Amino acid sequence: MRPWTLLGVLSLLAAVPDALAVKQADFKTCSQAGFCRRGRALSARATEAGKSWNSPYSVDVPSISIAPNKAVFTAGVKSSLYPEIQFGLELRVHDDGVVRVRMDEVNGLRKRYDEAASWALISEPVVSEEIQWVAGKKDIRAKYGNGNEVVVAFEPLKVSLLRGGKEQVVLNGNGLLHMEHFRTKTPAATGTEEPEPAAEEGSEQVVLETPANPRAWFEGDKEDDWWEERFSSWTDSKPKGPESLSIDISFPNHATIYGIPQHATDLALPTTTGESPTFSEPFRLWNSDVFEYIASSPMSLYGSIPILHAHSADSTVGIFHAVGSETWIDVSHPTDKSTQTHWISESGILDIFLMPGPTTDEVFAQYARLTGTQVLPPQWSLGYHQCRWNYISTDDIRTVQKRFDEEDMPVDVFWLDIEYSEDHKYFMWEERGFPDPVEMTNDVAAVERKMVVIVDPHLKRADNYPVYKEASERGVLVKPASGDGEYEGWCWSGSSSWIDFFNPGAWAWWKDLFKPTKLASGTWSWTKSTTDIHIWNDMNEPSVFNGPEISMPRDNVHFNGWEHRDVHNINGMLFSNHTWQAVRERTNPPERPFVLTRSFFAGSQRFGAMWTGDNLGTWEHMAVGIKMVLANSIAGMSFSGSDVGGFFGNPEPEMLVRWYQVGIFNPFFRAHAHLDTKRREPFLLDEPYKGMIKDLLRLRYTMLPVWYTAFRETSVAGVPVLRPHYVVFPKDTKGFTVDDQYFIGSSGLLVKPITDKGVTQTKVYLPESQVYYDYFSHLVYRGSSKGREVKVNAELHQVPVLIRGGSIIPTRERPRRSSPLMRNDPFTLRVALSKTGSASGELYLDDGVSYSHESGEFVWRRFGATTEKKVVTLTSRDLGAENKDAAVDGVALVAYNPTKNAFAESIAAVRVEKIVVLGLAGKPSSVKLDGKELVWEFTPGVAASGKEKESAVASVLSIKDPRVRVVEDWAIQIAL
Ligand code: NOJ
Repeated sequence: MRPWTLLGVLSLLAAVPDALAVKQADFKTCSQAGFCRRGRALSARATEAGKSWNSPYSVDVPSISIAPNKAVFTAGVKSSLYPEIQFGLELRVHDDGVVRVRMDEVNGLRKRYDEAASWALISEPVVSEEIQWVAGKKDIRAKYGNGNEVVVAFEPLKVSLLRGGKEQVVLNGNGLLHMEHFRTKTPAATGTEEPEPAAEEGSEQVVLETPANPRAWFEGDKEDDWWEERFSSWTDSKPKGPESLSIDISFPNHATIYGIPQHATDLALPTTTGESPTFSEPFRLWNSDVFEYIASSPMSLYGSIPILHAHSADSTVGIFHAVGSETWIDVSHPTDKSTQTHWISESGILDIFLMPGPTTDEVFAQYARLTGTQVLPPQWSLGYHQCRWNYISTDDIRTVQKRFDEEDMPVDVFWLDIEYSEDHKYFMWEERGFPDPVEMTNDVAAVERKMVVIVDPHLKRADNYPVYKEASERGVLVKPASGDGEYEGWCWSGSSSWIDFFNPGAWAWWKDLFKPTKLASGTWSWTKSTTDIHIWNDMNEPSVFNGPEISMPRDNVHFNGWEHRDVHNINGMLFSNHTWQAVRERTNPPERPFVLTRSFFAGSQRFGAMWTGDNLGTWEHMAVGIKMVLANSIAGMSFSGSDVGGFFGNPEPEMLVRWYQVGIFNPFFRAHAHLDTKRREPFLLDEPYKGMIKDLLRLRYTMLPVWYTAFRETSVAGVPVLRPHYVVFPKDTKGFTVDDQYFIGSSGLLVKPITDKGVTQTKVYLPESQVYYDYFSHLVYRGSSKGREVKVNAELHQVPVLIRGGSIIPTRERPRRSSPLMRNDPFTLRVALSKTGSASGELYLDDGVSYSHESGEFVWRRFGATTEKKVVTLTSRDLGAENKDAAVDGVALVAYNPTKNAFAESIAAVRVEKIVVLGLAGKPSSVKLDGKELVWEFTPGVAASGKEKESAVASVLSIKDPRVRVVEDWAIQIAL
């Protein structure tokens, strides 16, 4: 059965209220993309053939070659259907147990694009010296690590990763591997046919295998869109012909999978095939500017990270496919314990990394070793960002800043969208509204705030635009299909061209553009800017208004002759990469840049933040934004958020308050709004909404130490800032699909933002037999090891935040106008005792802007609480010194400098001003530091009444000014 039926489409549309907002017809379905149609047809034929289906690919055994003392082997691969075509297979086991499987066509008519990994990876992974491949008659295998084994079966070719004898990942287990080899167009080629329309149920094409075409059982009976392809009014010339790549990747023992952002869908990926699919289209990865996207859809969005986690109570494994071309992924569950995926890519080689886990943390570390970690951002970028399309003048910005200050609302960054620029020539100020940009930036910087200004990748083709002129003279613009001249398309700036960031000739020049000084070279630089301006890279999919699917033609030509189709999904990352480098190198010594990108790929986490694009001001979009940010987080990009308020629409005050509640618990926290929306800065609201949002902004700022500490952890270990349940409680099967509540770093804060209208109470899922405390009211909730939902109050002024028993939360509670102004503020510690009377928590601090933390200038503390013989001891220890020479969490830790640490000295006087201990069994008899009694207050707890398990209130001990400093070791004794 062809799953994409008219009925299916209609029911999908009916289920999604805003489905008609997006012009779906602007974007392809699988059946409108020749290679996807071919890939799905292959899968349909395999399913129909059942057990008699056999992959034609096999290892050419005599060609196997094992590198001496190396965990690498290479072999030829043959397809029985095309014995004359050669493929090369290479497997290597990295020293951390990751297995890389590569397959390419050898001596083909052309070269396949094989550089995707070189953009995504931070370096060439180190191959294990210990692992040995052992070749047998039927397979070649290597055992390693804690029960891992990788097996390559010869005929048919199948690659399996096992753990304890159990299959974890299997490649080509269903025989869907197909690397369409390069061929010569024959006169009979039928490439100019109209694309096949979406088939009705039951009308699938019958494949005719004829003596003249014995390959039809595998490839189909016609050259379906091999040589030319049409979509809407566009024709793709496809000069290389068919070159797609299909591969099935199965997880026989994992029922739940996560990943492959960016899609507006649940975190646990729904199925896309089968009798009752959630979606009937495969998930698509083709970076796209989707206007008013659907809140529940497998359609592609702005970015692509081809990574999956497969999870079960026993283990987590991951796969990363380094492919930069358009890729469609079908998901199904052949049994309730297993998952199958089918990847269909338009071009490129097979380059799959199998990450053996077996824990989520290890998968994060394995992926981080490949593609890098989320870069530690400047600390101010974790504050609140105020954006709109558009603040219309420098005075507009000054007024907005003044209003924030008048209302005592903290904010760190003001943003300028495209209208700051003259005719959308980025970097060039529109003089009428922005006559004094440097002075405006200095006014903002006077209270240590920053500006972020947009720089898009399309360059107006105008003689009076030096940036375009210089790019043109250097020959670094993307070329049209002919390979000559400059590709021209339309975007905000009208007739435009695009810099080809694959061309190294563009790199140094691009960096120079951002220098705020005149350059000796005489090339243009941004003299009307300051180093307090950071950058927003938008439209970098790239978005081309008059191009196919609002993007660039696939047959456009990039550096070295590669077609756009080969590199499309990587394109946006290269733009933010080079912008990030440019901003970093404006100063000497460099300062940490902030760059926001809309488009992204595997590795983009190294260059800053992303957001979920043009969402709508609807409850559905608010809810799915959380899931999308979680999906990004587990795929390495922790610094994510969605437009607070929704980009389109005029949210009512209730919705806006709820949206700020979502926003303050997103790593990247920015309000943004479309040109046509009413102004909605928080100071414009009436009470009580204005006060509620002010409280939320302040809450975010009090928790900045928690966020920054979580960012430190992700920047060294890869483990995300936002942690969904399966990451924190990997064995709790009930939590596998929970994606509307999550933990912040290792802090123990559990958040469940409200994303529905009229809510006064919600249910929070607690997966363990542990006590949880309401952050604000100190109400006590008890979880169960079987998993239990508790009712938590959620009136409009309340956002459900619980502290997991056993956590210590460091905050800074003095309201300030911007986050850098908090640098000398004292800390409050909230100690939430576990049911056994213990707790611990971390605090990481550095100067927040420079790279001095890389030479050891930081403060990293562990706070602890233990209970022994009726004495609770609170301690502070120096984690930096303790971990001086160690690599923590398996990835990397920069060396701490306990002796020469100017940052630690600069905050030597910073105190802990208050310690709040929740959950003491009774009133203390004394609270002492170094034998001296401290000043404290105790409020006894309130026991639960009757059946109301949720009505208990924790006891609260409040130690005022405990006379301890944050950089010192100390111990406070609480005698009970
Ligand atoms: C599209 C972006 O997604 C949006 O955030 C921005 O405001 C507009 N481009 C205008 O630059």
